Amino acid sequence: MNVVHYSRIAGTGGYLPAQVLTNADLEKRIDTTDAWISERTGIKKRHIAAANETTCDLAEHAARRALTAAQITAGMLDLIIVATTTPDVVFPSTACLLQARLGIGGCAAFDVQAVCTGFIYALAIADQFIRGGTSRRVLVVGAETLSRIIDWTDRSTCVLFGDGAGAVVLEAADRPGILSTHLHADGQYQSLLHVPAGVSKGYDQLRNGEAYMQMEGKEVFKVAVNTLGRIADETLAHNQMDRSQIDWLVPHQANHRIIAATAEKLKLPMSQVVVTVAEHGNTSAASVPLALDVAVRDGRIKRGEILLLEAFGGGFTWGSALLRY
Ligand code: ACO
Repeated sequence: MNVVHYSRIAGTGGYLPAQVLTNADLEKRIDTTDAWISERTGIKKRHIAAANETTCDLAEHAARRALTAAQITAGMLDLIIVATTTPDVVFPSTACLLQARLGIGGCAAFDVQAVCTGFIYALAIADQFIRGGTSRRVLVVGAETLSRIIDWTDRSTCVLFGDGAGAVVLEAADRPGILSTHLHADGQYQSLLHVPAGVSKGYDQLRNGEAYMQMEGKEVFKVAVNTLGRIADETLAHNQMDRSQIDWLVPHQANHRIIAATAEKLKLPMSQVVVTVAEHGNTSAASVPLALDVAVRDGRIKRGEILLLEAFGGGFTWGSALLRY
C-alpha cells in the first residue's frame, strides 16, 4: 500500500457577491474621499453581500468552482473546513451547512476562527490531516460577510472591508505540495482589533445589531508589517530556501502598503506579488484563497511554481504556507 506523506492543491475557486461598493459610493455616505482611501490603502472598490446572501452562500459558489477545477465530486471529499469570523448562525458550523448544500453527509466538517489568518490555519490543519493519513481529499474554504460586523458610519474601518469566498481542494500526493505551514497567535493584542460582543459576552449588543469591529489602525499596521517580515524569514529558514526561490507571494489583502512593505523585505518585485486589494478590499479569511484563485485562473501562477502564502489578523494571529503549486 502507498504511504502518503504530502498534500497538494488540486483546484481553486473563488466567488464575490454581485453588489459592488466603490470609493465614490462611500464618498456619498461618509466623510471620506477616493483619494484618501486609495492613497492609504490601495482599495478602489469592494463587493458586499446582498441582504439575503450569507457566508454559506458565498462559500458554496467558491467550493463548487474549486471542486470543478480539481475534477472531483463533492462525494469524494472526506473533510470540509471553513475558515470564517462571520458564520451564518451560532451553530451548526458553516462547514456543516456547506456540507448539506453540497448534498453530502458523513465526512467530518468544522469551522476555524482565526480572523484574517483563518484560511492559513485551515490549510495547515488540512495538510496535517492528509499527512497523518486521516484524510485524502479536503475542501478548505475561507468565506466572510464582514460587512455584517462593520459600523458603516465609522470611516476608520468601513472603507477597508468587503465580502467574498475562496476555496481550494487539497489532496494526498506522493510529492509536496505543501512544503511547510507556520502558525502563531498572541492574544495579548486582542483589544487592538476586535468585536467586543458575542454570544457569551455583550449578547444584548449583539442581538440589537450594535456589535461592530473596533480597530486601532495605526498600531495594527505596525505590528502587521513587522510580523509578516518575520514569518517570511521563518518559513524560508525552515525550508533552507532563499527568497530568490519564491515565484509568487500571495499575501493577505489588507492594505497595499502592508503588502508592498512585505514584498520589499523579501526583495520581491511587485510583479511577483498577487494583489487584489484594489478590487476586493480586505475580505478577511477569504482574501488569500481569492487572490490565489485569481492568479491561477488568469494564468500567472503555473504548476510547479513556489508560492508563499501569508496572513495577519485579529487575535492577533498570523501564519504562512510555502508550497509548490
Ligand atoms: N477618510 C478620510 N479620512 C480618514 C479616514 C477615511 N476613511 N479614516 C481616517 N481618517 C483620518 C483620521 O481621522 C485622521 O485624521 P486626523 O489626523 O485629523 O486625526 C487621519 O485620517 C489619519 O488617520 P490614521 O488612522 O492615522 O491613518 P493611517 O495612515 O494610519 O491609515 C489605516 C489608517 C488605513 C486604517 C491604516 O492604519 C491601516 O491600514 N492599518 C491596518 C489596519 C488593517 O488593515 N486592519 C485589518 C485587519 S488586520 C489585517 O488584516 C492586517
